Amino acid sequence: MIQFSENISLKEYNTFGLEAKARYFVSVSDYDALKSVVKSFDPGENRHLIIGGGSNLLFTKDFDGWILHSDIKGIEVTEETDEYVFVKAGSGENWSDFVDYTVEQGWGGLENLSLIPGTVGAAPVQNIGAYGLEQKEVFVHLEACNLITGKICHFNKLECDFGYRNSIFKGAEKGKWFVLNVTYRLEKHPRLRLDYKPLLELFSNIPKEKITVKAVSNAVKSIRRSKLPEPKELGNAGSFFKNPVILPGIFSLLQQQFPEMPFYALENGLVKIPAGWLIEQAGWKGKRMGHAGVHDRQALVIVNYGGATGKEILALAEAVQKEVLRKFNIALEPEVLIL
Ligand code: EPU
Repeated sequence: MIQFSENISLKEYNTFGLEAKARYFVSVSDYDALKSVVKSFDPGENRHLIIGGGSNLLFTKDFDGWILHSDIKGIEVTEETDEYVFVKAGSGENWSDFVDYTVEQGWGGLENLSLIPGTVGAAPVQNIGAYGLEQKEVFVHLEACNLITGKICHFNKLECDFGYRNSIFKGAEKGKWFVLNVTYRLEKHPRLRLDYKPLLELFSNIPKEKITVKAVSNAVKSIRRSKLPEPKELGNAGSFFKNPVILPGIFSLLQQQFPEMPFYALENGLVKIPAGWLIEQAGWKGKRMGHAGVHDRQALVIVNYGGATGKEILALAEAVQKEVLRKFNIALEPEVLIL
């Protein structure tokens, strides 16, 4: 089925809760519907954007083009072994509900990614991650429809070229594919991932065999709720910036100046610095500019206190970037897509 509208408000389709209009909006609930949409528009000619839950978007103006939205639903087990269960989910499924479903079954693999806003289809595009896990670790493959030919293609893990909040769908293949469904390999005997410090501390006194995926999922939910604002209550798009990755030489110089600076040494020798710390040190945590502000419990999150425009949020983000650059000589790169 196709749901087609013209000049519609995108307020319900972005978690910042911003007012912006789309010239055309098409929501599809299956592949056949998508195929007929592909016939009527040319992605080479027509500006278009594929959206999931709108949890990573900043609209600074109306969108003069086509918005393609997935309403493709369904969760099914496609294969089972003694160790694993392969679960396929439609791209329009709500991510958090999907994770809850797998946790209820006692399957391990997605519990650290509980409560992340957005849809299943957006998860691999952005390679979502939290609390010591990225979705790529349990990802098997996805099916996507080519927006020029209308043909379906399989992408395995290697072909997706996952990186930190990145994939081929944000790089070389940007805008060319519409994700239909995603398959994950989940564990029947869960291998818990408790390396993230607050999780490790929470479970330190409990024998590992007594810890359930449900308990980990609940712990992740309560950590998230304590730091991250609920988009329905306070508009936001999660982390506004990526955590910057810097060269070891630059890191050593900075560390001499700021010995207390937290960091994560990466396998490739580079060093990741928490942007939240940089922003807090730059004096922006909890600060407000008009209707927008830097969250008071997590400086990496920019919030809409109600009635903010996209331009106002962008102005605040740029002021934050400027101050971090001045103080640390580090250029923060937005994680959200600015339109
Ligand atoms: N910190 C501060 N002040 C702050 C916030 C953070 O000093 O206001 C420092 C603290 O030292 C803290 C460290 O930053 O120990 C890391 O903070 P946190 O564990 O909250 O994680 P993050 O690096 O700020 C990343 C992801 C989040 C994810 C968390 C947990 C990015 C851009 N963000 O944030 O993902 O939930 O780790 O794994 O990588 C998202 O992508 O939208 C998102 C919320």
